[in-house]
Amino acid sequence: MRNPSKAAPLGLALDATGREPLHRQIGAELRRAILERRLAGGMKLPSSRLMAVELACARGTVLLALEQLIAEGYIVARPGSGMSVAADLPDEMLAAPAPAIQGPPRQAATMRAGPDAALRIGQPDRDFPFPLWAKLLEAEWRRPSWAIAGMPHPFGHPGLRAAIADHLGALRGFRCDPAEVVVTTGIRESVTLLARLLLAPGEQAWMEEPGYPGIRLALEAAGVRAVAVAVDEAGFVPDRAMALAPGARLAVVAPAHHFPLGIVLSLQRRLALLAWAERTGGWIVEDDYDGEYRYSGRPLSPLRALDRSGRVAFVGSFSKLLFPALRLSYLVLPRALAGPAEVALAGGGASMLGQGALARFIAEGHFAAHLRRTRRIYAERQAAMIEAMRTHCADRLTIVADPGGMHLVARPLGEFDDAAAVRAAASMNLAPSALSVCYASAPACHGLLLGYAALPVAEMNAAVRRLRAALALARN
Ligand SMILES: Cc1ncc(COP(=O)(O)O)c(C=O)c1O
Repeated sequence: MRNPSKAAPLGLALDATGREPLHRQIGAELRRAILERRLAGGMKLPSSRLMAVELACARGTVLLALEQLIAEGYIVARPGSGMSVAADLPDEMLAAPAPAIQGPPRQAATMRAGPDAALRIGQPDRDFPFPLWAKLLEAEWRRPSWAIAGMPHPFGHPGLRAAIADHLGALRGFRCDPAEVVVTTGIRESVTLLARLLLAPGEQAWMEEPGYPGIRLALEAAGVRAVAVAVDEAGFVPDRAMALAPGARLAVVAPAHHFPLGIVLSLQRRLALLAWAERTGGWIVEDDYDGEYRYSGRPLSPLRALDRSGRVAFVGSFSKLLFPALRLSYLVLPRALAGPAEVALAGGGASMLGQGALARFIAEGHFAAHLRRTRRIYAERQAAMIEAMRTHCADRLTIVADPGGMHLVARPLGEFDDAAAVRAAASMNLAPSALSVCYASAPACHGLLLGYAALPVAEMNAAVRRLRAALALARN
């Protein structure tokens, strides 16, 4: 998952999976750009919201970086006219060569796979019904009420919140009140918001090892210390977590489908985690990032459905289910948090632009139909990928079926450097992710995460043959 993102106007190179917190990377890169005069004195900077979009991170992360640079005098902020590079930095500060700032390793532009690259995780099928989407947007925005266009509730569109509550009741097996549903721009934003509400800076939260590096960043954005707890074949191990960080007050887990290994958290572990929360007043964030995709076996009840004492927040997202630029996701709050969350989000919240259209998309049955269609084709694509991998890459990688999700994990049979494999793959416009970056501490297992959901069956063999050629390239 080495994923250097580049903000075109600013030219920042970030390593979303590096150990350095993202806000520090952004701060260091901006400082370097100012010192090297790539950003001239007086130049107006894009808004923090735009920077966050370009850098694919939370706006809060960008704001943390900007606040530091404002405090240091590199950037000036003027009410009403935004932020600009300080015009009066002393010349000796600007003298080349720029000081060596410890930053993430830079990769040559040729190493970056394009937006159409195959095998990228989290990419859904491209055949989304956009003409229908455009009609729903138009229907919603031709004459919007002022409650939508002018005075939106910070928790989001009431129709969408009700549609989400209905969907969860019908498909995920738990009832919730639309008043507990908050629309957000992503799961990471949901996690940061919850961590801010529930913990004080410096407190500890457990996360899974391996796990999604974005969760660590989301916790750190709230000033919370993430403690990585190794999973086993039954998933997250509460006993291990309690021994490692007994004072932790929050657990972030993906029980339906662990990322990246696909483990379903056993019922016994679910109950142990809930008992911990009840006993200690701890909190659980249930990350249901791709729980809608299950192809065989029965899903276990979500933690939220088993939660008797209101300790579980459930977070999910539409972006990977529909199309990534949608950036609409949701969190279901523990009831006691509705008041504090409203205070924390006052005057904020996700953009209303797509919310009403999404509410109609769900209420009119298009969402259920879309899930039925994509479940069928993703199951076919997964099977096709397994067959192609066994045909073309069996001497290097083994792969086993996963009862759910949108990606597979390929494990090496011998010595294997997954970062080198990812770089070689990028040069062939393939974008698998490295398993090793999902580990917070050594030793990390190496392997490749292969997204198959966006790849039609007819194109599977060709992509996997290119992967084989890339693996040969990485070896030499
Ligand atoms: C475990 C997990 N949680 C959450 C997300 C998505 O986070 P966001 O909605 O912030 O993009 C992902 C994406 O890969 C994930 O793997």
